[in-house]
Amino acid sequence: MTLWLPVRPEPAEPAPAASPVIDLSEVGKTYRSGSLQVEALRGVTLRIEAGEYVAIMGPSGSGKSTLMHILGCLDVPTTGRYLLAGEDVGTLTEAALAEIRNRRVGFVFQQFNLLPALTAWRNVELPLSYAGVGRDERRRRAVAALDRVGLGDRVEHRPGELSGGQQQRVAVARALVANPALILADEPTGNLDSAATTDMLALFEQLHDQGATVVLITHEAEVAARAGRVVRVRDGRIQSDSADSADSSDSSGSSAAAER
Ligand SMILES: Nc1ncnc2c1ncn2[C@@H]1O[C@H](COP(=O)(O)OP(=O)(O)OP(=O)(O)O)[C@@H](O)[C@H]1O
Ligand SMILES: [Mg+2]
Repeated sequence: MTLWLPVRPEPAEPAPAASPVIDLSEVGKTYRSGSLQVEALRGVTLRIEAGEYVAIMGPSGSGKSTLMHILGCLDVPTTGRYLLAGEDVGTLTEAALAEIRNRRVGFVFQQFNLLPALTAWRNVELPLSYAGVGRDERRRRAVAALDRVGLGDRVEHRPGELSGGQQQRVAVARALVANPALILADEPTGNLDSAATTDMLALFEQLHDQGATVVLITHEAEVAARAGRVVRVRDGRIQSDSADSADSSDSSGSSAAAER
C-alpha cells in the first residue's frame, strides 16, 4: 500500500493551446568523434500532445537517449526542426536554451544524479535556485514536491541515507519542482527492484493523471504497458508508434482492440 497518493497538484505550465508539447520534424543527429561519424538519429518525426504518457522503446544504441537529450534541450539536432511548446529551439541562443530547459523540462535518469553532499530538499530546490527563486520560497516548494512523492518525512536526509527507490523519488521531486510542461525519464526504473519499480510507475501514472506530459524510455515491456502510447526506435528511426496503428492493425495482427 502506498502512503503517498493524496496530493495537491500544482498545475503544469500550459503549452500554448494549439501546439503540441513536442513537435519534431525530420530530426537527425550525427555525432562526430575524430574521423568517425555516428548517425544516432536519422529523420525522426514525432508529435506529442500535452497530457500524453509515452514510452520510448528500442534496442541498445538505437538512439533513445540521443532523442531524449534533444527533447530536453540538452543537445540540439544536426538537421531538422524541433518545436518545444511551439517554440523553435533551433533558433535559440545557449542561454535561452538553458532557460527553457530549466523552466519547461524535468529530468529523471537511471542513476538518480543526486548530489551526495546535499540533503533531499537541497537537491530538489536546485532547479529553482538556477531560476532565481528566493530561499524561503525554494524551501517551501522543495518540501511540497517531496511531500508529493511521499518523502515529506525525509527532507533532511542525504542520498546515502535513503533507499534506491527513495533516491529516485527525490529525483522525481526535483524534476517536478519547477512545474515543467514536460517530464522526461531515461530508464528511471533501471536501477530499482520490482517493488520500487511498481511504486515509481504508480508515481508517474499519478503525475500523468494530474496533467503532466510524460515521456519515459524503458527496456521493460511491463513498464511500457502502463503508458498510453509506445514509440519504438530502431537504428535512429521510428520503427513503430502505437498512436499510428490505433485504427489499423499493425504487424502483430490479431485483435489488438480487445486489449482495452
Ligand atoms: N556523445 C556521443 N558521441 C558519439 N557517439 C555517441 C554519443 N552518444 C551516443 N553516441 C552513439 O549514438 C548511438 C545512439 O546512442 P544512444 O545513447 O542514443 O542509444 P540508446 O538507445 O539510448 O541505447 P541504450 O539502450 O544502451 O541506452 C550509439 O551508436 C552511440 O554509440
Ligand atoms: Mg540510453
